[in-house]
Amino acid sequence: MSRCSASADTRGRVGIIDQHCPHRGANLWLGRNEECGIRCVYHGWKFDVEGRCLDMPTSYPDLNAKDKMGHQGLSRARARGNALGLYGIARAHAEAASDGSGPRAGLASLCHTFVPVTDTTCWIYAYAWNPERPSTNAERALYKGGNGVIAEVEESYVPLRHKGNDYLIDRQLQKTKSYTGISGVSEQDAAVQDSQGPIADRTREHLGPTDLGILRFRKLVMDCATELARGKEPDAARRAERYHVRAGACITHKSKDLAAVMVERFGGPSGYVGGAPAALAD
Ligand code: FES
Repeated sequence: MSRCSASADTRGRVGIIDQHCPHRGANLWLGRNEECGIRCVYHGWKFDVEGRCLDMPTSYPDLNAKDKMGHQGLSRARARGNALGLYGIARAHAEAASDGSGPRAGLASLCHTFVPVTDTTCWIYAYAWNPERPSTNAERALYKGGNGVIAEVEESYVPLRHKGNDYLIDRQLQKTKSYTGISGVSEQDAAVQDSQGPIADRTREHLGPTDLGILRFRKLVMDCATELARGKEPDAARRAERYHVRAGACITHKSKDLAAVMVERFGGPSGYVGGAPAALAD
């Protein structure tokens, strides 16, 4: 059975819609109330109270994708009486730029390690370092208070803003200053990701041009799993050296070309740590 969210638009029209966004299943309860519609905070799809998609910023306008679909699974029941609170958009990741808490502090490298606990839960370790120099006390203090992809945590390392307290979402803040009303990039990410559910129902998704990376990753993982089931170890497990490549930022003189910057930043033109694997060096 689908769960629903009730909302009233800026004209006072009330509708009951499927709780999960038909794009990739984020909970529309987190959404932001905008002009005559509710906008999903994950990638910005917007729906009216009838469930029509009004805006689909993840697709090319000339594809008319938004006109080809409604909000599938929508309950068209109409509520009367009290108008319920409306919630609106959030392009969650854009927010970081406006509040100055973006994922970079200087040129620090940032990393996540996911450690499974059960089939549907994991610990996420987030850490930052500067490959060029020790972190300063000011940077350490910034991370400790939560910064970018590093959540503000309690003594037990549980984030202060989590699913159990609705990420301390502030609807007034969401209305006036912040797309999500949730403080912290990490917490914003957690909110939309948690809201997809422990096991998301991918059969109800409507993927588009900006999901190509998702599609390819899923295919890669499924192909590896299929090969493993047939007794063939995936290439990725046998060629660890192919993963000795890393991302990194660099501020340098504009006169340098990319190859020179790569050498300066990584010690080689390919970006492989310790040099490219023999098979790629030729
Ligand atoms: S716009 Fe709702 S999940 Fe992507």
